[in-house]
Amino acid sequence: MANVIIMDHPLIQHKIGLIRRRETGTKDFRQAISEIAMLICYEATRGLKLDDVEIETPICRTTVKELRGKKLAVVPILRAGLGMVDGMLTLIPTAKVGHIGLYRDPDTLKPVEYYCKLPADCAEREVFVVDPMLATGGSSVAAIRMLKEKGCRNIRFMCIIAAPEGVEEMKREHPDVDIYVGALDERLNEHGYIVPGLGDAGDRIFGTK
Ligand code: PRP
Ligand code: URA
Repeated sequence: MANVIIMDHPLIQHKIGLIRRRETGTKDFRQAISEIAMLICYEATRGLKLDDVEIETPICRTTVKELRGKKLAVVPILRAGLGMVDGMLTLIPTAKVGHIGLYRDPDTLKPVEYYCKLPADCAEREVFVVDPMLATGGSSVAAIRMLKEKGCRNIRFMCIIAAPEGVEEMKREHPDVDIYVGALDERLNEHGYIVPGLGDAGDRIFGTK
């Protein structure tokens, strides 16, 4: 069964408070999203495997730790997921980046696919799917299904704000995928928006409204 890891770090909680505020403008919103992504990335990479490697310091030989394989990929769900990529790459700069384009039909709330470009060897990589919002779960469930169809087996999902409905949908559809959540909110409203949430993440990152 999927683990759902909800962040309790004070820096994450504080920065989520900033992005929830109606008056936070595009520049500060974008910056906070990137910083929160970096902090969640720190938690989500905690389980990565390490190897012992022998090296020489200026003083003597010793054994140090090195990430095993280093084969990671970050896959943002467009558009809003793009806001999390910089923060992820700050901590894991050698990761490859794939893109999955999905938008939510405003009437049916079902995801509509419009783009998919992944690293050629994505099936061999540990994949971190990123999207600030997990609402009904339709978009993340569909994105992860697309990755599994390409052979990916080792997948984690990271979001900044989640609704309980989306978390349940993800657990039902992808019980093998651990979910890292910045904050778990109360519910969805009648338009499929997270309450209290932060509004439309894509519009706030890109200043399109
Ligand atoms: C938002 C968000 C998620 C999706 C979450 O994207 O970034 O991808 O909604 O909702 P769900 O869990 O109900 O699927 P949106 O469809 O608004 O597209 P955009 O990022 O291009 O604005
Ligand atoms: N997508 C968003 O950007 N915000 C929500 O609250 C729900 C879906």
